[in-house]
Amino acid sequence: MLIKKIEDAINEQINAEMWSAYLYLSMATYCHSEGKPGMAQWFEVQFNEEQDHAKILYNYVISRGGRVSLKAIDAVPTEWKSMLDVFEKTLEHEGKVTSLINNLYALATQENDYATQSMLKWFVDEQVEEESNAQTIIDQLKMIADNGYGLYMLDKELGARTYTQASPLAASKD
Ligand code: FEO
Repeated sequence: MLIKKIEDAINEQINAEMWSAYLYLSMATYCHSEGKPGMAQWFEVQFNEEQDHAKILYNYVISRGGRVSLKAIDAVPTEWKSMLDVFEKTLEHEGKVTSLINNLYALATQENDYATQSMLKWFVDEQVEEESNAQTIIDQLKMIADNGYGLYMLDKELGARTYTQASPLAASKD
């Protein structure tokens, strides 16, 4: 059984992951409006991945005999200043998500909830990748600056990103 304090905290995290999904879908629409279909595709994959994150937590709460409680998803921004801005805001957001995961891990540690700690390890590793991916694109955008050909090539490269179901879900066939 999950203790109430941890159940509540995971439910909050499910909401945060769904908000992240909504944020990245909004970023995808911005990229489309700026004529960057490849970058839009990158964010659409991100949208799928965030929903996976929510579903992993959802499955976990249920498997521990807890109760998932879905809350309202707050509105997300809809406008950004540039492609660099949109990826900088992505990195900033992922930094906040990393703090949320760390806080959740600290709570599970404090409550001697080893199963929750074990489940969260996947998220700890995932956050390293999330931040690193955004940082790499920011570095590339800074290198390219206003070079049209460079932007065209980067858009093409990011458009090649494909969605793969997160491993904890693939393993559980959900
Ligand atoms: Fe669910 Fe992008 O972290």
